[in-house]
Amino acid sequence: MKFFIDTANLDQIKEAQSLGILDGVTTNPSLMAKEGITGQDNIIAHYKAICDIVEGDVSAEVIATDFEGMIAEGEALAALHPQIVVKIPMILEGIKAIKYFSDKGIKTNCTLVFSSGQALLAAKAGATYVSPFIGRLDDVSTDGLQLIEDIRNIYDNYDYTTEILAASVRHTMHVIDCAHIGADVMTGPLSAIVGLAKHPLTDIGLAKFLADHKKGN
Ligand code: G3P
Repeated sequence: MKFFIDTANLDQIKEAQSLGILDGVTTNPSLMAKEGITGQDNIIAHYKAICDIVEGDVSAEVIATDFEGMIAEGEALAALHPQIVVKIPMILEGIKAIKYFSDKGIKTNCTLVFSSGQALLAAKAGATYVSPFIGRLDDVSTDGLQLIEDIRNIYDNYDYTTEILAASVRHTMHVIDCAHIGADVMTGPLSAIVGLAKHPLTDIGLAKFLADHKKGN
């Protein structure tokens, strides 16, 4: 399973990259605003800065919601850097845009996916990634992981090449459960990535090894 970090915070992206296990970055307008990145020039410079830090795919979301607008914005974003993936919302105009970009060989990430029907449409349009938001489904008492499982079954039935990018991951168990189900990618906060390394028995064991080594020397 690929690990993407879901943030526009450059320090966190650098920290995740320094671990050597980062496969990409996802951003969205809310994450950009959280970092205080506003204005088109700053937003574009920020995407370029992210691409300079990581080697993998970097999702950059369009703001337009009409086909022509999404095409214009998406083409400009894709031209910024070869690592940019155009992130497009799951609306009918978005499906048309995904098909357009797919035909042109431009990578897309279909975002704001909350049902398997939406995921099926994204795959048929040729999306590179589909982003089901598991945390936000959990927030409304609906099983987000069940959606990942449903999409996995549907895609496997037809060998769709669209990668399931489990998004709105909130914690380490989401990551582990996504890996059990067979999500292709997960995107989550730095805490969900580094949290995987934590175990009290590791800390206790390491402290004992070091203490015993000291005794013997
Ligand atoms: O990748 C989607 C993500 O940014 C949404 O996460 O935590 O705002 O639901 P969250």
